[in-house]
Amino acid sequence: MADRVYIFDTTLRDGEQSPGCSMTVSEKLKMAAKLVDLGVDIMEAGFPIASEGDAQAVDAVAREYPWVSVAALGRCNTKDIMACVQALKNARRPRIHTFIATSDIHLKFKLKKSRQQVLEEAVAAVRLARSYCDDVEFSAEDATRTDPDYLEQVSRAVVAAGARTVNLPDTVGFSMPEEYGALIGRISRALGDAAVVSVHCHDDLGLAVANSLAAVQAGARQIECTINGIGERAGNAALEEVVMAMKVRQDKYPFTTKIVTEHLYPASQLLTSIIDFGPQPNKAIVGENAFAHEAGIHQDGYLKERTTYEIMEPTSVGVPESRLVLGKHSGRHALVKRCEDLGVSLNKEQLDVMYDRFTEAADRKKGLRNDEIASLAKEVVEQSKSAVAK
Ligand code: KIV
Ligand code: ZN
Repeated sequence: MADRVYIFDTTLRDGEQSPGCSMTVSEKLKMAAKLVDLGVDIMEAGFPIASEGDAQAVDAVAREYPWVSVAALGRCNTKDIMACVQALKNARRPRIHTFIATSDIHLKFKLKKSRQQVLEEAVAAVRLARSYCDDVEFSAEDATRTDPDYLEQVSRAVVAAGARTVNLPDTVGFSMPEEYGALIGRISRALGDAAVVSVHCHDDLGLAVANSLAAVQAGARQIECTINGIGERAGNAALEEVVMAMKVRQDKYPFTTKIVTEHLYPASQLLTSIIDFGPQPNKAIVGENAFAHEAGIHQDGYLKERTTYEIMEPTSVGVPESRLVLGKHSGRHALVKRCEDLGVSLNKEQLDVMYDRFTEAADRKKGLRNDEIASLAKEVVEQSKSAVAK
């Protein structure tokens, strides 16, 4: 289907490979269960040559979820590929994902190999992987700093050798959306229907999601991404952001995914409970403040009509409800509503007193908790009743 975009989740591999994010086999299995609920198309479960734990995780995830495509990563050499083959031996839908760097900077300083050598190793690795597995993905590491003519040559050669997916990572998060779109467009046209073009963007300049979306518009049909955007250095494109951008802006991105978006927030919460840190409060889609309104003008608009300040329903991403945060920027509408929700109704005079006391307290603090608001409101009501009685 031309408009179907495959979601390749690499939370358990690229995500896991960053500081504070390592996961045990049982933690990976727990997270995998959520990724399955979410409906990801491919789960990359580990880099088997890197550790015994990674190899076991690939095997465990593949056994537990035989109907899901499970990928294992390996460099373009026999040892790595055979470690993938071994880890995937019980998988019903195995994918071997093999990669080698193609940029001159990596060839010169890291690999110390010529372009011809890298081309030959890429082709040999894909052939070897294909002799064990029908579903082989090739990644040209640092594709965005690779000479485009050479990148096209490598891409055509690996597809001729049997790769079904060609991934062109922005490994160092260097590319700009229009530039990345042009590169992806060129390789997509060169490969035609022979392979799916995939993207894998890092967020060093904060452009991983924008680059992934530009790539899809230019012809890519697989996005590699992670929950909460975890991953090497500044992370990978956040799965929840690319998916919701395509869902909310269907006019610009008329593509479909299989993601059940109501599981996005639970998936983010589960990951946070497993690794050492959660998303920042203002993180799109899953951050604590993503559906919180504090400014009085916003709260007033929101209470009159939700869509004045919300472009998606919180429940559509699994967040139970929007929050009106009462702080010093909040207005009377929100305060009276919160007091009512807390079981205290205020008349006009009481509200005036309550509002003054509330803003005075909110000025000193970062915001008031519900129990503090309720006791302040009760105090105001009591005082006004005893003043009337006197
Ligand atoms: O960032 C990268 O280039 C990678 C590849 C191994 C796909 O993670
Ligand atoms: Zn990566």
